Amino acid sequence: MSYWPDKVVMITGASSGIGRGLAVALGTRGAKLGLVARRVEQLGELVAEIESLGGKALALPADVQSENSMRAAADELRAQFGPIDVLIANAGIGPTRDAAKLNAEEVANVMNVNVIGASNSVAAVLPEMIARGQGQLVAISSLAAYRGVPKSAAYCASKAAVSSFFESLRLDLESRGVDVTIIHPGFIKTALTAGRGAQMPFLMELDDAVKKMVRAIEKRRKRYSFPWQLATIVRAGMIMPIWMYDRIARANSFRE
Ligand SMILES: NC(=O)c1ccc[n+]([C@@H]2O[C@H](COP(=O)([O-])OP(=O)(O)OC[C@H]3O[C@@H](n4cnc5c(N)ncnc54)[C@H](OP(=O)(O)O)[C@@H]3O)[C@@H](O)[C@H]2O)c1
Repeated sequence: MSYWPDKVVMITGASSGIGRGLAVALGTRGAKLGLVARRVEQLGELVAEIESLGGKALALPADVQSENSMRAAADELRAQFGPIDVLIANAGIGPTRDAAKLNAEEVANVMNVNVIGASNSVAAVLPEMIARGQGQLVAISSLAAYRGVPKSAAYCASKAAVSSFFESLRLDLESRGVDVTIIHPGFIKTALTAGRGAQMPFLMELDDAVKKMVRAIEKRRKRYSFPWQLATIVRAGMIMPIWMYDRIARANSFRE
């Protein structure tokens, strides 16, 4: 029996890239979707596409930085489709920035969207999941969570925070029937990586990446890092001496 039919799933950052790809994949598998992002027009087109494929979806225009907007979006989804079974906290931004041009406002913005946005999303759905004794929280973090990489200070810090945040939640929630799945993707072809001149090793097509993420969510994996080749290299980086890590990381900047 498939995992998705009639599950109510809230996806943030659904208007493009990974969120959009997950929405189409889950909509065609029978999930009832609440699609969160700021761009209303893109959400409307996505709802129409999912409905044309026989699925059910609701556009929930909202900025994840607003706790109130996220609560209102979750309330609207519940009113339309019933209790929320799965949250996919995917909304994120990842600017390239050399340390010499550090911009404090940009760092705060990345933290607000990637970390506070994920926290607001969880806060909007978790009390009900705990009350029902069931649910699943999914974080789309990044392999950039494991160690700092060049020209990505804010992004790496935000993704390390996201992974730690959800790991702590997992420990608190495992006795309460709420599962937590933390996904660490490598490079995927989306708007976030488009236009980068630097070489991105093991760059994946969106469809292939979406299939892998859907499987990891279905299996309720606690942590899923992919593609395995890059995940293995990144994990090796965790136990390397600093001089060795720095030499390799400096020579392999993934941002121009
Ligand atoms: N692509 C990769 O290689 C890669 C690798 C590892 C992890 N990731 C992570 O995957 C997630 C999705 O990225 P993507 O590659 O699919 O990029 P994308 O195509 O740029 O999508 C980003 C999504 O986040 C939404 N978003 C941004 N700010 C928001 C806000 N304040 N409130 C609500 N929604 C907001 C955007 O929608 P609106 O602009 O309409 O609001 C958009 O739907 C991110 O968390 C990213 O860090 C990506």
